[in-house]
Amino acid sequence: MAITTIAVIGAGQMGRGIAHVAALGGYQVKLRDISDEILNKALAEIKKNMQKGVERGKLNTEDMEKALKRIYPTVDLEEAAREADLVIEAVPEDIKLKCEVFQSLDRICPSHTVLATNTSSLSITEISAATQRPDKCIGMHFFIPPHIMKLIEIIRGLETSEETTRIAEEVGRQMGKETVRINEAPGFATTRINALIGNEAFYMLMEGVGTPEDIDKAIKLGLNHPMGPFEMVDLVGLDTRLKILEYLHATLGEKFRPCPLHIKYVKAGRLGRKVGKGVYDYTCKE
Ligand SMILES: NC(=O)c1ccc[n+]([C@@H]2O[C@H](COP(=O)([O-])OP(=O)(O)OC[C@H]3O[C@@H](n4cnc5c(N)ncnc54)[C@H](O)[C@@H]3O)[C@@H](O)[C@H]2O)c1
Repeated sequence: MAITTIAVIGAGQMGRGIAHVAALGGYQVKLRDISDEILNKALAEIKKNMQKGVERGKLNTEDMEKALKRIYPTVDLEEAAREADLVIEAVPEDIKLKCEVFQSLDRICPSHTVLATNTSSLSITEISAATQRPDKCIGMHFFIPPHIMKLIEIIRGLETSEETTRIAEEVGRQMGKETVRINEAPGFATTRINALIGNEAFYMLMEGVGTPEDIDKAIKLGLNHPMGPFEMVDLVGLDTRLKILEYLHATLGEKFRPCPLHIKYVKAGRLGRKVGKGVYDYTCKE
């Protein structure tokens, strides 16, 4: 089945990046969020990131202009989804919300449409069960920022068909990404490891093992990670990471119990780069 139109649901940190790579991949993109303000911010961010690509010689101006014209923003879910061949959902990490969105998409979309979720941790099988087409549901887990990161983790739920898997892999290739096939398990391959490292780093901070700067430096220079765990959680969003940890704690057990210090940061509204302050304060740094 040929994919020409992709609807991206949610234009936050991930959705806007997915719209960016989908448009550069040649797809018509419908980008849906709940307000014009969020959509305008997302479009401005996409343009800024594409312009950076032009400055670095990764993209020419003509391709950028064409790609930007392929992105159509809307607050109307029906308008976004009714002609889509593939939908990629990137709303917050909340199982109830994702199931509601999938139920609506199942009603609105043509019968051939593949429904993908960008969840970082949740059950593809559970989200698929909200629809009448579990064979056409799949996980397409992009990484932050989607226009830079090379991988899409393709996650198969219990009923995901081989054809659906191949479509997701082909779309990934068309977006210039590598893919891996993962059978569903909480947190898949990547989030399970990443959440554990990030949570342990918070316990170390709470115990006074070191400053965030020194712990990040130790992990980067000593273990050759490109980012420290606190730089990473600030980029991911402390709210998103906490939801992931709560789910992994419920499904995989005690080793994923969210660190109380992390919970305290979320309660204080220190959600990371997206709000200007997380573990680090970006209002002073930038
Ligand atoms: N942040 C990361 O590093 C990362 C990486 C991979 C996957 N993910 C996953 O991607 C998803 C989104 O994460 P994010 O970081 O982009 O979050 P975010 O908070 O930046 O964006 C979520 C967006 O969804 C919108 N939204 C809420 N309800 C909606 C609805 N019903 N319809 C359309 N839009 C709606 C919000 O207004 C917001 O703009 C989550 O499932 C998360 O786990 C996140």
